[in-house]
Amino acid sequence: MKIFVTKSKEETQNLGLKLGKNAKPGMIFTLYGELGAGKTTLTQGIGKGLNINKTINSPTFNILKIYEGDLVLNHIDAYRLEGLDQDLGFEEQLDSNGLTVIEWPEYIENLIDDEYLEINIEINEDYSRTITIIPKGLEYEKFLKEIL
Ligand SMILES: Nc1ncnc2c1ncn2[C@@H]1O[C@H](COP(=O)(O)OP(=O)(O)OP(=O)(O)O)[C@@H](O)[C@H]1O
Ligand SMILES: [Mg+2]
Repeated sequence: MKIFVTKSKEETQNLGLKLGKNAKPGMIFTLYGELGAGKTTLTQGIGKGLNINKTINSPTFNILKIYEGDLVLNHIDAYRLEGLDQDLGFEEQLDSNGLTVIEWPEYIENLIDDEYLEINIEINEDYSRTITIIPKGLEYEKFLKEIL
């Protein structure tokens, strides 16, 4: 586990940049945190690390957005799936060799593998963010140790 405190949007994006730059095909990052915590902000940094030129914004109305970069980025925002128990079929559109980043993973838990990088973002009283990264599985343990 590693813990970071970021004092600005840019600092959060810089952390994302390192994660994106070093991501391997097929990796999954799960982003937990309340509304406005900074999940999309972190994803923007990840996108920069993958050399994606398009603006990454919240895909709330799409659930899934796919971006082309050094790796394909599958950006999922499951917020609107809260309480839904049905299979919407968007999994079939995922690029399995890409990097999958999931906001609100708690709403699609049944679709997530056993191994992934869990990232929790908390808003502090002074508006800084505490970002806790917990690797699930050996590949992610190694990844976290090597890059951050
Ligand atoms: N240290 C920080 N890290 C990230 N964002 C910050 C930080 N400080 C302030 N912010 C601001 O907080 C907001 C975070 O919004 P963002 O859309 O990334 O949240 P989110 O977790 O994706 O929310 P949602 O659940 O609605 O998708 C942005 O307006 C950003 O500028
Ligand atoms: Mg968001």
